[in-house]
Amino acid sequence: MKLLLETNLPNLYYRGKVRDTYDLGDRLLIVATDRISAFDFVLPNGIPDKGMVLNQLSAFWFERTAELVPNHFIAAVDDLSILHPYFDPQILPSYLIGRSMIVKKAERIDVECVVRGYISGSAWAEYKESGTVSSIPMPKGLKESEKLAEPMFTPTTKAESGHDQPLSMEEMKRILGERLAEELREKSMAIYRYAHDYALPRGIIIADTKMEFGIVDGELVLIDELLTPDSSRFWDMGQYEVGHSQPSFDKQPVRDWLTSSGWNKEPPPPPLSPDIIEQTTKRYHEAYRRLTGREL
Ligand SMILES: Nc1ncnc2c1ncn2[C@@H]1O[C@H](COP(=O)(O)OP(=O)(O)O)[C@@H](O)[C@H]1O
Ligand SMILES: [Mg+2]
Repeated sequence: MKLLLETNLPNLYYRGKVRDTYDLGDRLLIVATDRISAFDFVLPNGIPDKGMVLNQLSAFWFERTAELVPNHFIAAVDDLSILHPYFDPQILPSYLIGRSMIVKKAERIDVECVVRGYISGSAWAEYKESGTVSSIPMPKGLKESEKLAEPMFTPTTKAESGHDQPLSMEEMKRILGERLAEELREKSMAIYRYAHDYALPRGIIIADTKMEFGIVDGELVLIDELLTPDSSRFWDMGQYEVGHSQPSFDKQPVRDWLTSSGWNKEPPPPPLSPDIIEQTTKRYHEAYRRLTGREL
């Protein structure tokens, strides 16, 4: 098992909570580190192999759904020679292997395309408060974590800072135009339905997920990461029970431990115990195994 918290290559494009992205001209190199966030904080420890799982799971889904919706994926970095055109080979670190991918650089559409198949998180909070989800009136008597009759498209703004705000279909049409807004909805729903139905018999409920899109050479393509535990809620089918919140397939040991540690949710978050780190690595391996049928 390998741990990577930071990368340091030339031409950084963007450093996110978890991934470091580098500019390759008309392409990007996206590197998934082992950083983990919980309760909106990046924790001081990483989770060994987490970045490998996230990168390879995204690659898996991009390849599987390419016929459904075109995407930005060009190649996984299985071998450093693929990066020789972009960097001095002398400086290329071996940690990039297995945890990074080359993608087409896109003009990003600043909307988070969220699809929900189950009522949870902020959607459950809104429903309890007002009986609506994304301002759409819902049937009475829904229970927490219940499967929705049909998946719902609940897009949000992509805020540069602060929290993303819900966006109604009408607002989205006004911002992006009717055609593009409809296309984003259709493509997002198609991806979610496919992935949900694929994962369910393999023991994972994909309760909801977030996608991003961009334009490359005039074509609409899926970008960013796809159907990973960082962009989606994964639940264990074997533990699923309507009427309360569900344990997160991957992060629950971390959340429970942080909660029971007495931490007041003010920075800095405390370091995780070695035992929790190991348990969490196992959860990521297990998610990868169930979904892909392969060992990492
Ligand atoms: N193919 C692409 N072209 C342009 N931008 C992209 C592409 N793929 C992902 N991005 C952008 O790169 C950024 C990656 O950030 P990310 O690592 O997810 O950090 P954060 O913690 O801010 O979400 C996002 O802003 C995403 O929209
Ligand atoms: Mg992101």
